[in-house]
Amino acid sequence: MMNTIEVGDRKFGISITNERINERTKEIAAQINAEYKDKRPLFIGVLNGCFLFMADLLKETVIPCEVAFMKVSSYKGGLTSTGELKEIFGLPENLQDRHLVIVEDIVDTGLTLKYILEKVYLQQPASVRVCSLLFKPEAILSPIKELEYVGFEIPNEFVVGYGLDYDELGRNLKHIYRTIS
Ligand code: IMP
Repeated sequence: MMNTIEVGDRKFGISITNERINERTKEIAAQINAEYKDKRPLFIGVLNGCFLFMADLLKETVIPCEVAFMKVSSYKGGLTSTGELKEIFGLPENLQDRHLVIVEDIVDTGLTLKYILEKVYLQQPASVRVCSLLFKPEAILSPIKELEYVGFEIPNEFVVGYGLDYDELGRNLKHIYRTIS
């Protein structure tokens, strides 16, 4: 395994290995299997960052469930959020009385998630919880009570890999790497 890699113009060091991600994903899936047993949950993945986590998580679920994806056009490239959000694409339109699990790659400031939750609640779902692979507790602007399942809490530093990008590069890396300054 390479401990240091280059993505675009920056160097990154290993942060969380794919093996650790898989172990943690299995633990979360076991919890979801128990808590949503007879609820036929609808998992809604937030693209693009969720694609590997969503796949690995759902391979470990053993309950009847449905799967959908949505996308939020957000800030592009760079290392920091501008807090600018534009639009939601592809949110299913039949969410009333459904039990929803929103699957995210990372919750940073929480602005993206807040925006998604606002739109989701307009449809009066039965319940809404969020499952995020990563969470930066130091970066969140206001607490999000729906954030029930968190893979790893990480410091307020930029990470790439396993779905997460740096200027659209690095999503395909199997491990998660942190920026080295
Ligand atoms: P938030 O709205 O600040 O919570 O940011 C959420 C989105 O920002 C995530 O879905 C990612 O696309 C992106 N993001 C935030 N932090 C990182 C990071 O460390 N690496 C890669 N993308 C990130």
